[in-house]
Amino acid sequence: MAVSGQEPDRTGVRLQQGLGFGLSGKLLLLTIPLILIVEILIYVPSIANFRVNRLNDRLAAANTAALVLDAAPSGMVPDALARQILASIGARAVAIKSGQQRRLLAAADMPKKIDHDVDMREIGVGSAIFDAFRVMLDSGDEVMRILGPAPGSGQFIEVVADEKPLRAAMFRFSRNVLLLSLVMTSITAGLIYYALHHLFVRPMRRVTANLVAFHENPESTARIIEPSKRTDEIGVAERELSDMQRDLVSMLHQKSHLAALGLAVSKINHDLRNLLASSQLLSDQLASVPDPRVQRFAPKLMRSLERAIAFCQSTLSYGKAQEAPPDRRMVLIEPVVNEVRESAGLASDTSIEWINAIERGLTVDADPDQLFRVLLNLVRNAAQALESDKSGAGVARQIRVTGRREGAVAILEISDTGPGIPEKARAHLFEAFQGSSRDGGTGLGLAIAAELVRAHGGELSLVEGTLGATFRIMIPDRAVELHRLRDARARG
Ligand SMILES: Nc1ncnc2c1ncn2[C@@H]1O[C@H](COP(=O)(O)OP(=O)(O)OP(=O)(O)O)[C@@H](O)[C@H]1O
Ligand SMILES: [Mg+2]
Repeated sequence: MAVSGQEPDRTGVRLQQGLGFGLSGKLLLLTIPLILIVEILIYVPSIANFRVNRLNDRLAAANTAALVLDAAPSGMVPDALARQILASIGARAVAIKSGQQRRLLAAADMPKKIDHDVDMREIGVGSAIFDAFRVMLDSGDEVMRILGPAPGSGQFIEVVADEKPLRAAMFRFSRNVLLLSLVMTSITAGLIYYALHHLFVRPMRRVTANLVAFHENPESTARIIEPSKRTDEIGVAERELSDMQRDLVSMLHQKSHLAALGLAVSKINHDLRNLLASSQLLSDQLASVPDPRVQRFAPKLMRSLERAIAFCQSTLSYGKAQEAPPDRRMVLIEPVVNEVRESAGLASDTSIEWINAIERGLTVDADPDQLFRVLLNLVRNAAQALESDKSGAGVARQIRVTGRREGAVAILEISDTGPGIPEKARAHLFEAFQGSSRDGGTGLGLAIAAELVRAHGGELSLVEGTLGATFRIMIPDRAVELHRLRDARARG
């Protein structure tokens, strides 16, 4: 990953601090005991099997000796030969039982007692394992008698032998198994570790290192992870992470632009307020002009300027380009709408028909200045849409304002017979700087209107399926008090 200056070191330190005992170490620690467990599971039956095989070998050799015994003329062999035969098969005595007869091959140094009987004709897995460990844990000179099927017509064959040589052989076997296990464990652990390290640990480390580096400077596009071509879950995680980082970087850039813009707006507001204040001083003098037309317009001009100054002031005192909380009261809506009509220049415009369909005496629980701004933005948009509409020559150019109350909610609608909302403006209609599709439009009007309505706990929405465009403002009254509810009921 391309990171510059001193940062790789810091990233390394953070990674080490964060990971502690890393994934690789944990993997190795987990692999070795798992392999050892598997090897123990293999060792236990193999040591039991080893002992059973040794005992069976003994019996096979004893069977050969029994054949010699059978071949001897009187059933007896010379003492020296008997000893030789017994030594070669590692037994102290061999006896064979056929019919009622039990013949003993030889009894060189016969022990006083037999410590263990091992019947090879009925041997189970459990007892074979148990006996194997018993033999290895014994330490003295125990003697065992091994019983097995006899050759020819014999019923069974018995071999009396020392356990010590068997135990020594079992220890030798175990030592060899142990050595082999160590070699196998090392090789297997190494291979598994190598494979897992390459498959998982390394890519995970890359992702982790990237996250740490990205966290240090989330505004830098250089820190966005370059996803690999993997198709597995890690590949998906890398691609998702990369997309997320890209979104985050662009969001942060947008946010810092907005912050800069907020500052610029504050500065503009500041000077605009001063300019408006000067205009207010000048327009004060208009009041003394006796011309009746001036007398009619001067108060409206004064009111507009006052409102503009108050707005600049409230924005400034709020610090950023954010709205002050609404100062709500019950406002009679009709005069506000009339003022909006005049401010939008529609009172004198005969090319656009104005239709007022507001319920008589309708009140809205709202901040009058903010409500004025919401309506002005919507009416301006409608007027601009009608003026820009070249195609709808045959359709009457109308703006209709409807107002009604549904219980504790006041509903206002601004409709026009213009071309309707263009497709490309629809997706981000209420988002700042996103929704404009108009030359010279900033895309702020609807965002501001929606924010103001939301601050009243209400909703501004586009009504679908109408001719032209219709925007609906719904503003609920503040907590419903009983007397208001009664009033509303009384009204129907
Ligand atoms: N009544 C309407 N009829 C048709 N299109 C409309 C109407 N109202 C809004 N629009 C569309 O929605 C877009 C966004 O409106 P918005 O008021 O947010 O921004 P604007 O009018 O472009 O700029 P400004 O910030 O100056 O108001 C407009 O550019 C226009 O394309
Ligand atoms: Mg607008």
